[in-house]
Amino acid sequence: MDSRCCQNAEDITHKVCLITILLTLSFQIAVIHSEEVDRNAEYRQTVRQYAGELKGNLFAALEGNDVIGAISVCSQKAPQIADNISREKNWEIRRTSLRVRNAENAPDAWESKTLEAFEQRRARGEDLATMEYSELQDNLGQKVFRYMKVIPAGQLCLTCHGTQIAPDVQAKLMELYPEDQSTGFSPGEILGAFSIKQSL
Ligand code: HEC
Repeated sequence: MDSRCCQNAEDITHKVCLITILLTLSFQIAVIHSEEVDRNAEYRQTVRQYAGELKGNLFAALEGNDVIGAISVCSQKAPQIADNISREKNWEIRRTSLRVRNAENAPDAWESKTLEAFEQRRARGEDLATMEYSELQDNLGQKVFRYMKVIPAGQLCLTCHGTQIAPDVQAKLMELYPEDQSTGFSPGEILGAFSIKQSL
C-alpha cells in the first residue's frame, strides 16, 4: 500500500470522526434547546398563575377602596404565594426590580444584569408583554436554570408605584418602607420582573 492511500484512509477516518462529533454535538444542542423551550413554557405558565393570583387579590382590595389593605396583599400575600409555588415546584420564585420597595427583593448580580438588558430591549422598542430571558448556568458542576420575565407597570399598579400616590397611601408606604425606591413609574415602563431559579 502506498503512503498516499494510507493517508487517504486516515483522512476519511478523521472526516467520519469529525462528522460524527459534529452530528452528536448538534443533536445535543437541539436536545438542550428543546428542554429549554419546555422549561420556559412551564415557567411562563407558573408566572402567569402567580401574577393572576396576585392581581386578583389586589383588584379585590382596591375595588373596596381599601388601598391600605391592598398594601398587605403586596407585602404579605405576594411572598406567601411565591413560597407556596416554590415549595410545590421545588424552585425559587421571587419578584425583583432595579428600584425596589423592599430591600429583601433587591436583585442579585445576574438579575441586575438581566434587568438592565431588559431596559435596553425596551429602548429598542421590544414588547414588554413577552419579554423574558433564560440561561443555564454551571457553577462548578452544579447546574442551575435561571429565568426572568418582565413585569410591566400597569395602570392598577400606579396606585402604589406611580407618580401621584394618595397622601395616606404614601404615608403608609413610607412608614413600612423608609428606603422605598419603587415610585414614580409610568405606564409602559418596567416595574420589575419575576425571577425563577431551578437547581437541576
Ligand atoms: C396597594 C399598593 C400596591 C399596589 C396596587 C401594587 N403594589 Fe407592588 N408593592 C407594594 C408593596 C407594599 C411592595 C413591597 C412588598 C414586599 O415587602 O415584599 C410591593 C412590591 C412590588 C414588587 C417587588 C419589588 C419591590 O419593589 O420590592 C414588584 C415587582 C411589584 N410590587 C409590582 C407591582 C405590580 C406589577 C403591580 C400591579 C399589578 C403592583 N405592584 C401593585 C404595593 C403595591
